[in-house]
Amino acid sequence: MGGKRFTVAITGASGSAFGVSVLRRLAANQDVMEVALLLSPTGKRCLTDETGLAVKDLCAISPKITHHDERNLGAAISSGSYRQDGMALVPCSAGALGRIASGISESLVSRAADVCLKERRPLVLCLRETPLNRIHLENMLRAHDAGAIVMPIMPGFYTKPSVLEDLFDTFATRVLDQLGLPESDSRRWSG
Ligand SMILES: Cc1cc2nc3c(=O)[nH]c(=O)nc-3n(C[C@H](O)[C@H](O)[C@H](O)COP(=O)(O)O)c2cc1C
Repeated sequence: MGGKRFTVAITGASGSAFGVSVLRRLAANQDVMEVALLLSPTGKRCLTDETGLAVKDLCAISPKITHHDERNLGAAISSGSYRQDGMALVPCSAGALGRIASGISESLVSRAADVCLKERRPLVLCLRETPLNRIHLENMLRAHDAGAIVMPIMPGFYTKPSVLEDLFDTFATRVLDQLGLPESDSRRWSG
């Protein structure tokens, strides 16, 4: 087993199933040792509403996954001195994007994201909102300029998905690419 550590945050936007797929893939990756799981209060609600899953079900996916209360600003991932290899917010609400783009680190989600930016570690923001207003667009640019990878939940359809899981998985592959974990996937476009 490899020694990499990542954080996955599910914030209050539609599409938490995409976050679950990223979590599963990270936990199954042999280079990954630990995955810190964060959920905002609305993220928890969206998870249960849309997937029927609770936090304990996500923790049961793998012993590599540890859930942290998002109010616990004393968690290890709150400090840049703690070694970790990147973070993905899947889905990322417009509110979470705004807080990260403004450097407002009032929760463990926004603080851990802020740490990734300052330590120059991959931070993947899978925004889920449509249509976008000027504030969203400006916040995306600010986050991008600060080093984040802004990756809205826009799955590709060239893989001819037949079930929703195909969409989640294809998108998760692209998120893992951005976290520096390129996996072989037969659904990649090969010309
Ligand atoms: C059921 C539900 C669905 C929501 N869907 C979205 C969404 O798709 N995108 C978004 O940006 N906000 C959405 N929101 C609003 C955010 O959850 C809200 O602005 C929240 O404060 C974001 O904070 P958080 O990122 O800490 O969860 C939704 C809220 C609820 C209750």
